[in-house]
Amino acid sequence: MTVKRKILVTAALPYANADLHLGHMLEHVQTNIWTRFQKLCGHECISVCGDDAHGTAITLSAEKKGVTPEQLVNQVHQERLQDFHDFHIDFDHYHTTHSEENRELAVQIYQTLKDKGHIISREITQVFDPEKNMFLADRYIKGECPRCKSPDQYGDNCEVCGAVYSATELKNAYSTLSGAQPVSKKSVHFFFQLSDFTAVITQWIQSGAVTEEIANKLKEWLDQGLKDWDISRDGPYFGFELPGETNKYFYVWMDAPVGYMAAFKYLCDRKPNLNFDEYWKPDSRCEVHHFIGKDIINFHCLFWPAMLHGSGFRTPTKVHTHGYLTINGEKMSKSRGTFINVRTYLKHLDPEYLRYYFATKTGPGIQDYDLNMDDFRQRVNSDLVGKLVNIASRCAGFIYKHFNGQLSRENIAPQLTQSFQKKAEYIASCYEKVEIGKAMREIMALADSANVWIDQQKPWVVAKQPGNEIQLQNICTVGIHLFRLLLIYIKPVLPEMVSRAEVFLNIAPLVWNDYKILPAEQTISRFKPLLTRIDAGQIDKMLDENKTSATPTEQPAAKQQGNCWITEQPVAQEIDFTAFTHVDMRVAKVINCSHVEGSDKLLRFEVDLGEEKTRTIFSGIKNAYQPEQLTGKYVIVVANLKPRKMRFGISEGMILCAGGEIPYLVQPDEGAIAGMPVN
Ligand code: MSP
Ligand code: ZN
Repeated sequence: MTVKRKILVTAALPYANADLHLGHMLEHVQTNIWTRFQKLCGHECISVCGDDAHGTAITLSAEKKGVTPEQLVNQVHQERLQDFHDFHIDFDHYHTTHSEENRELAVQIYQTLKDKGHIISREITQVFDPEKNMFLADRYIKGECPRCKSPDQYGDNCEVCGAVYSATELKNAYSTLSGAQPVSKKSVHFFFQLSDFTAVITQWIQSGAVTEEIANKLKEWLDQGLKDWDISRDGPYFGFELPGETNKYFYVWMDAPVGYMAAFKYLCDRKPNLNFDEYWKPDSRCEVHHFIGKDIINFHCLFWPAMLHGSGFRTPTKVHTHGYLTINGEKMSKSRGTFINVRTYLKHLDPEYLRYYFATKTGPGIQDYDLNMDDFRQRVNSDLVGKLVNIASRCAGFIYKHFNGQLSRENIAPQLTQSFQKKAEYIASCYEKVEIGKAMREIMALADSANVWIDQQKPWVVAKQPGNEIQLQNICTVGIHLFRLLLIYIKPVLPEMVSRAEVFLNIAPLVWNDYKILPAEQTISRFKPLLTRIDAGQIDKMLDENKTSATPTEQPAAKQQGNCWITEQPVAQEIDFTAFTHVDMRVAKVINCSHVEGSDKLLRFEVDLGEEKTRTIFSGIKNAYQPEQLTGKYVIVVANLKPRKMRFGISEGMILCAGGEIPYLVQPDEGAIAGMPVN
């Protein structure tokens, strides 16, 4: 007997200021597949999520729409419930951080941390908008980059030259909210002293709560020393007030993860069999699993375990992190029509197509996920329709027509059915480890072998030979048994399709352990197509609709650290020839190229420019090249670019690339040698 586990699962709480898009859905699909798998295995598995309702972005969106933040949050909440429902994301509860449960828990956590001396206050200077009468976060300030003088750069880093600075250093700064010139103003802020928990966090990481890849990233942050975390904001701010202070509010990221607990609390208050403390007490034997994107690792793997531990709660069992969704190889973009809202997708396509496609790509790593529309269509059509459903459609008709739907009692291919049953354990272990792509590959390999067997048995030939009725019934029965086993294995991914199949097979809703026995008596109904092919036209229509309707979400700047290349190409002004000659471009030979630990974007180059010493250059092209590919290659380098200090070292030049998001290295023709001038 397997032990019944008690598991709480969460997906990150989406900001309430914008529509859900397919990037969000990637996370929810993964979380939901994992949750459904656990439930199918008979564990108590509770999934909660909710809207992240607080912060300036919400206030501003509400202002634009002419409603109060509360009204906006309520409206968004209803739309989302529908979106999730239609994508078969069945939370046990979907809450909001703007709730009484959350206020109480956030205050309790804050108060305990404060009583234990982990929170201090000090005065800081910040940029203030005198017209709006509010302090400005970096993303609401623009001005000239203090280094390269590019106009319209945000308050924390320059998208043109990559410089990192503080908002007070911007030249000719203005508030993007009012246009007013910001002033510096002092205010008292409250800080959580994260460094008190360095040992706790280190131990938590070692407990296996994150993958090795994430552990390495975290170790780097820990090695740099943990800084105090500013958890308060001055009013006006949409959030909860700090107890005992005036006009101070919790920073949105302080009460956001508490929202996980609040959502669960709401449920516990209504379900007598669920006990909040049993799940959250320090020595709890229950499990807590968070699913998040790679942009919010620090919040979940540094701040959150520290907050929990410091306030007398348990820490999470695991944080599962995924990469970002790209579409046709590029970041989602409004103008290309690839900023796809969940609602727009649902108008044109079945959610289970995308659930399956995301499933095939899901692994425990944080590589990005590409939704390539052609690949998507082909994979779904070939795997789900061509392989999986095909097994049933080839066998069910004969059984229904010739045998009144009655399956035979005899199993003429016990080895084959057993080989399918034997895979249950492996597939289960893949689901457990979030190696869902591996599980899908195994299931499709089994579907292939089922189809091969049916091809060999040729039921359509047997059906034409009089006197072979039993043989025909036996063959098709095996086909249906195999199909049923695959339905069990794929049920977490395709709950609706499987439920339609359960109806036509006349069986009770399948659970995981049903793989162990093949039904002895079974009468099936008339087969109805379970899933239709995707037509390329449906995808085109969806993309067209997006070009006109989609609104990109505003991502808080706090998450945009380390942006290393130009996203919007600035229009270059005309220059004269002399200006051009100021740029010293030269051919360089790549002596060595390697990964930069902790950076998603950068590669480190050692290049020979025909000088005495080689130079080190960091280049943000990791998304397009493997370092091994580049060693020994010739590239073009801007040699007189002022050396730039980056987080990982000093970069002594720039390697030229064409293109934007996906860069193409500019390379000289064969025969060029290191140091040759380019002109
Ligand atoms: N509100 C915070 C999370 C608070 S959790 C206590 C937040 N919200 S978000 O709406 O910006 O993102 C919600 C989740 O969706 C995050 O895990 C984020 O990584 C994920 N994604 C947002 N855009 C995404 C893609 N394009 N691709 C994949 N995941 C994406 O962060
Ligand atoms: Zn700059």
